[in-house]
Amino acid sequence: MGNTPRIAWQAGLAAAAVLAASSLAGAAAVTRSGDVGWAYNGGQGQDHYSPLAQITKANVATLKPVWSFPLEPGALQGQPMVLGRTLFATTPTQRLLALDAVTGGLKWEFDPKIPGGQPIRGLTSWSDGKSTRLIFSNQNMIFLIDPATGKPDAGFGNGGHIDLRENLRGKAEDNVFFLTSPAQVYRDLIIVGGGRVAETLPASPSPARAYNVRTGKLVWTFHTIPHEGQPGAETWPKDAWQTQGGANAWQGTTIDIKRGIVFINTGSPSEDFYGADRIGSNRFANSTIALDANTGRRLWDFQQVHHDLWDSDSTSAPLLMSVKRNGKTQDIVVATNKHSLVYAFDRVTGKALWPIRETRFPASTVPGEQAWPTQPIPTMPRPLSRTSISPADLTDHSPEAAARARRAYGALAGGGGHFIPLSVDKETLVAPGFAGGPSLYGLAADRSGVLYASSANGSSISGLVDYTKMRAAGIGENAYLTSCSSCHGRDRSGNPPEFPGVADLKGRMTEAEIAEVIRKGRGRMPPFASLPQSTLDNLVSYLTTGADLPGTEPPPLRKPGVGEGAGSSRYVFTGYRSFVDPTGQSYLKGPLATLNAIDMNTGAYIWTVPFTMGGGPLVTGGGLLLISSGPRLQAYDKTNGKLVWETTLPGFGTTPITYMIGGRQYVAVATGSPRGRQAANAGPQKPGAYVVYALPN
Ligand code: HEC
Repeated sequence: MGNTPRIAWQAGLAAAAVLAASSLAGAAAVTRSGDVGWAYNGGQGQDHYSPLAQITKANVATLKPVWSFPLEPGALQGQPMVLGRTLFATTPTQRLLALDAVTGGLKWEFDPKIPGGQPIRGLTSWSDGKSTRLIFSNQNMIFLIDPATGKPDAGFGNGGHIDLRENLRGKAEDNVFFLTSPAQVYRDLIIVGGGRVAETLPASPSPARAYNVRTGKLVWTFHTIPHEGQPGAETWPKDAWQTQGGANAWQGTTIDIKRGIVFINTGSPSEDFYGADRIGSNRFANSTIALDANTGRRLWDFQQVHHDLWDSDSTSAPLLMSVKRNGKTQDIVVATNKHSLVYAFDRVTGKALWPIRETRFPASTVPGEQAWPTQPIPTMPRPLSRTSISPADLTDHSPEAAARARRAYGALAGGGGHFIPLSVDKETLVAPGFAGGPSLYGLAADRSGVLYASSANGSSISGLVDYTKMRAAGIGENAYLTSCSSCHGRDRSGNPPEFPGVADLKGRMTEAEIAEVIRKGRGRMPPFASLPQSTLDNLVSYLTTGADLPGTEPPPLRKPGVGEGAGSSRYVFTGYRSFVDPTGQSYLKGPLATLNAIDMNTGAYIWTVPFTMGGGPLVTGGGLLLISSGPRLQAYDKTNGKLVWETTLPGFGTTPITYMIGGRQYVAVATGSPRGRQAANAGPQKPGAYVVYALPN
C-alpha cells in the first residue's frame, strides 16, 4: 500500500536509521541486506500486512519454535516491534524489553515503575536519518527511548516524559487518561489520536494531539468534544466541552504519510448507555475523522452512530488500503464498529464508496432521553455479524434448549438487534452485543483490495434502573452501584470472561488485594484512586461480607438527576450480560464469531468461516492469514479461508507479527492470560511469553 513504503535501511540497529527519512519511520523497515522488520500493525496504515513470502501454505506446517522468552504471569494484548536485529516487547507488568530477534537473548530492559496496570499494545519509532528513538507509552506517559541502550531521553517533555493528562481539563492529576494503543509518528510529530478514559461521568475529554518529538511540546489539538464556537458545538449541550468526556480514539492513530492525513475512529461519549445530559447528535463521537497531520485542521468527518446509547465504539483504528474501481486505483480508509458495520471512504474527499442510508430506529422510552431518530447504515458490504434477532435465530440444539431460549427471548423488550434503545426496568437484547463486531485488532488488508475481519456475533442483554429508586443498604453498596455495577453487574455476577464476577471474592482475594485492584485498576478496569479511604474500606467490606464495616452510619439519601456529573445520572446501566443460559450456552444459533474476507473492489464477501476470537490477523505475501484463536496459533489460506495449520500456544495469543533476518522469516506472537481473565474464576494466571517460529534450517 502506498502509504507505508518499505524503504531501504542499512543493516544493524546502530546504523538502522541512516537511509530513513523521518517521515517514513514507523513503517516496517527493509534493510539493504534484505532484512525486513515489523512496525505496529504493519505500519501507519494499520493493514497488518507483511510482504514476506518465505512461509507459505505449502510449508507452514513445518514451522517450529526457534526461541521463546518467558515473562511474568498476566495478560498481554500487544505485539512486538522489530527494528534491525532487535525485537522490542512489553511485558504484563509494563516493562519494555529489547531482545535479540534471532536468539531471544535479552539486550536491555526499561521499567518506568509507574504504579497501576494498563495494557500496552505496542510501540513505534521515529528517526531523522541520524538518530532513532522508540516512542514508548506507559499509562499516561510517553517516553523517548534510545533503542541501543534502553535509556530514556532526560531532556524530553517535562522531566523526561510527556504526561498526557496535561492540557485536557483542569489539573492534570484530576484526569484519568491512558495511552493503551501506541502513538504514531509523522515527520517530527508524535501524534496521539486519543486514549482510554472513563466510560461513566466524570470522564476526561480525549482530543487528538500532536507533540514535537524533540521537545515534547504540544503542537496542535483537535477537540472531539467541540469547544464553544467550534464546528459541531451545536450538536452538544452548551457546556459539554467542560463537563462531558469520551469521544475518544482509544483504538490508535492511522496516518497516510504520503498525503499527511491523520485518521482516527472515536468511541462513544461518556456515559455509554444514557445520554439525557448530552442531547444532540454529539458530532465527532463515534466517528471517522480525517485531520491535517501538520496542523490538526479537520479535513472531513463521518459519524457512524448519532447520539450513541449503546457504547457503539469503532473497534479498531482506521485501516488504509487501495482498491480498483472503474479501472482506477482509489486509496480508501476503512472503519468498522461494534455493530459489525463496514464503512469505506475515499481518503481525501471522505466520500463513501457505497451509499450509506439514514435508517429509522425506535425512539427511547427513558424519561428525558432523545435517541436520534435515524442511524447511517452502509448498503455495502453487508454487516460482518447478525444485527437483528428473530425467533428463527434461537438455538434448536435440543427441544429443552429451544424452549428455554424461547422463554428467555419472550421476556425481553424490543425483539433484539442493533439501535434499539435500552429501557427502564426491562431487558433489551442488543445484537451484535456490547463486545460485538471485529476486535481491536480484527482487521487486515492485502494488496489486492481484500479486507480480512474477525467479528464477534455476540449478543448482550441489559437495561437501565432509576437510581433514585435503588435502595443501597450502605456506603459500600452505594459506591458499588455508582462505580462498579456497570461492569460487574448489579448482582456482582459480572459477565465472564470480559468482566469477572465479584460475588465470590472472599477466600479468593485478600482485602488488601481487592483494595489494590480498586485503587490501581487492572486491564480494562480503570483505577478508582480518588475514592475516600472510608468509602474504599466500606466497599471492600461490602464485597467480602455484603455489608458496611460494623458501626458505619448509613449513607444519606442521594437525589441524583440529569447533568449533575459524578455518577449521578438518573438512570444507571444494569451491567453487561450475554444472552446465554445458566450454563453459559448461547441462546442463539450459529458460531459465536466468524473470520471473513471481503473484496473491497466490489464489496462482495469472498469467504466466511466460523472462528473463536483471539488476537488480530496478520496477512502475508506468502498467501497466509495468521491469527491467534484463544490458545492456538492458526494459519489460513487467505484465498479461501481453509485452515492449513495450527499449533498450541503456552497461553492466549495476541496478534502475530513477522520479520526476516539473514534470509530467514520468523513469526512471533505474545501469549499470556486471556484478556479480562477468562480464568478469573478458574485458576491462576498463565505465565506470559514471546514465542517465535521459523521454518527448519
Ligand atoms: C469499566 C469496567 C469496570 C469497572 C467500572 C470496574 N471494574 Fe473491576 N474489573 C473489570 C475488569 C475488566 C476486570 C478484570 C481485569 C483483568 O484482570 O484484566 C476487573 C477486575 C476486578 C477485580 C478482580 C477480580 C478477579 O477475579 O481477579 C475486582 C475485585 C474488581 N474488579 C472490583 C471492582 C470494583 C470494586 C469496582 C468499582 C469501584 C470495579 N471493579 C469497577 C472491569 C471493571
